Amino acid sequence: MLTTAKEMLQKAEAGHYAVGAFNINNLEWTKAILQTAQELQSPVILGVSEGAGKYMCGFNTVSAMVKAMDSELGITVPVALHLDHGTYEGSYKCIKAGFTSIMFDGSHYPIDENIEKTKELVSVAHHLGLSIEAEVGAIGGEEDGVIAAGECADPEECKRITDLGIDMLAAGIGNIHGVYPPNWAGLSFDTLKAIREATGDIPLVLHGGTGIPDDQVKKAISLGVAKVNVNTECQIVFTAAVRGYIEADKDKVSKGFDPRKVLAPGTEAIKAKVKEKMELFGSVGKA
Ligand code: 13P
Repeated sequence: MLTTAKEMLQKAEAGHYAVGAFNINNLEWTKAILQTAQELQSPVILGVSEGAGKYMCGFNTVSAMVKAMDSELGITVPVALHLDHGTYEGSYKCIKAGFTSIMFDGSHYPIDENIEKTKELVSVAHHLGLSIEAEVGAIGGEEDGVIAAGECADPEECKRITDLGIDMLAAGIGNIHGVYPPNWAGLSFDTLKAIREATGDIPLVLHGGTGIPDDQVKKAISLGVAKVNVNTECQIVFTAAVRGYIEADKDKVSKGFDPRKVLAPGTEAIKAKVKEKMELFGSVGKA
């Protein structure tokens, strides 16, 4: 059931668990995530980066696919279709395309400009019934061409942007996109606590969910994180499973070259990964 992210995140925050935001890349990805959420009776957020949106022939195609799939699969758990790290222009495109939630990532602008643009988008999104995420303190690493050095957000800036009425806040706490380097210092819980104190009870978002040790994820959730984004881990398990299929020469026997057969192990691997994450985040049975 398509809905905004607002209510599911408020419930998560109050219930001390988090909703997983899993990036989608194609039909298999979307189906695997929706079916797992339904099976586990968990709310879920489908994240769409601008790059993935382009790959899937634009946000209108994505929106039509997700809505049709939600209906055809009889999905009853809350599902938010959410723009991930959106530009100003991309945010408007997703609003028009029928997304139920957007992230405007203005973290690379000077803070006053970020606030000005976020303010405008909050007003438009809320007028049309969408939820909106904003970001301060860039998340490190690279995702679909969006590159940032990674930093810890300034709690005062977090408060300024939260005061605009956003529904969820992504604030850097030492997290980065992609695989963490061996010398990664871990999440900065002092920063997270300071942000929490400055912003009150707004649902916080932990980007870069891939590879953060489980105990750190749990601690972050206990300190106010209500949405955890995962992308790279699903890509890694998908590709490894498809590689296993090909390397075992399964494509060479009994019409094993059928793309539905080739991609099936990857799809199953995503389902298992999403299940593992939903259990870790505590969202199972919370639909
Ligand atoms: P990972 O690719 O590190 O899991 O990060 C996902 C993310 O934060 C999407 O915005």
